[in-house]
Amino acid sequence: MTTTLDLNFVRQQFPAFSEASLDGQAFFENAGGSYMCRQVIDRFTTIFHQRKLQPYYAFKASADLGMEMDQAHERMARYLNVGADEVMFGPSTSQNTYVLAQALLARMTAGDGIIVSGQEHEANAGVWRRLEASGMRVLIWEVNADTGELDLDDLTQLLDDRITMVAMTHCSNLVADINPVREIADIVHAANAILLVDGVSYCPHGLPDVDALGADIYLFSSYKTYGPHQGVMVVRKSATSVLEPQSHYFNRDVPSKWMIPAGPDHVQIAAMNGMLDYFDALDKHHGGSDDAMRPRRLESLFHMAERSNLKMLLDYLSNRNDLRLLGPNDPTRRAPTVSFVSSRLSSQEIGRQLADRKIMAGVGDFYAVRLLETMGISPEDGAVRLSFVHYTSPDEINQAIAALDDIL
Ligand SMILES: Cc1ncc(COP(=O)(O)O)c(C=O)c1O
Repeated sequence: MTTTLDLNFVRQQFPAFSEASLDGQAFFENAGGSYMCRQVIDRFTTIFHQRKLQPYYAFKASADLGMEMDQAHERMARYLNVGADEVMFGPSTSQNTYVLAQALLARMTAGDGIIVSGQEHEANAGVWRRLEASGMRVLIWEVNADTGELDLDDLTQLLDDRITMVAMTHCSNLVADINPVREIADIVHAANAILLVDGVSYCPHGLPDVDALGADIYLFSSYKTYGPHQGVMVVRKSATSVLEPQSHYFNRDVPSKWMIPAGPDHVQIAAMNGMLDYFDALDKHHGGSDDAMRPRRLESLFHMAERSNLKMLLDYLSNRNDLRLLGPNDPTRRAPTVSFVSSRLSSQEIGRQLADRKIMAGVGDFYAVRLLETMGISPEDGAVRLSFVHYTSPDEINQAIAALDDIL
């Protein structure tokens, strides 16, 4: 097993890297949506050609599609180390939290409470905050206004015996520090509450062992993890008692449907296998065998590859005194989603100038409006965000640094 990522092999799996219209463009908006690997595109092509129809009937094309969807559940569950009946696919994480909020509300009584962190993307904030209008208490676990980070002691102060759930992110899409989910789960469980974790910004850097993390609900978006546009939702058995089923009444006992009010998107779910085909191929290419440790090996392979690039970028940014880096300067404590503001230039202006220099970067509030406001940053101008993943090359990092140096 080699621990050094074969970048050539990796980039061959992504058609975007041999696309003429993207030639010379360095992609740094991965936290918005990653490139799709060829295994997913191939799955889409096959499904659209051969079995774009209703699944689970006796005729072969239908039965095959149903089987492919079941495989997606089973394989995803193995990657996340949870039961296949605990994995559900909805249209997006925002829609999944919306449904979960209805499910939770139906089982709460006035005066029950929810704690929501102040570090969230709005997908994991607004739906919970709105429960206040139905008589629930909504308590905000505020971040430190300078660092944007959360303090566990503040959470402990907020918990009481009527708190049903704590909603927080594994890793913010702006500040990007990796929260100690296991430690937080223990605190939350000791107070008899459940923990919901938004893993959208964490999962592109390796699918985690959800069982080991201790989250009762874990969410991520596969269009940011090289896959199709879906929201992946893990609802552990430990969360079922506080959630009212949201499916059609006759589907209440179908595990893959009970938190899914709409019909599932057959093609997207079946194509999810392509993402796992890619991960399997990557592990095999690096000497891995088909065993339970595959997800852990990939997580560390991704982290190792990303961290040396992250160090280069953080070193550059934190040595400038005209920039405010959001989140920690330590590559072992954060994801490679690197946001900053300048004391001289507007974020929008930096974004335009980066685009002129073939750096595809994001600028704005990234739907983390409340977090920016708490940190004293105008959501209108927002922050500049350079987000990258394991397929980003050191050359692209140097290209971004050279462009920033020129602009700043
Ligand atoms: C941290 C985080 N959470 C949630 C979401 C929402 O995901 P979706 O687009 O699947 O609703 C995003 C999207 O950018 C995000 O970055």
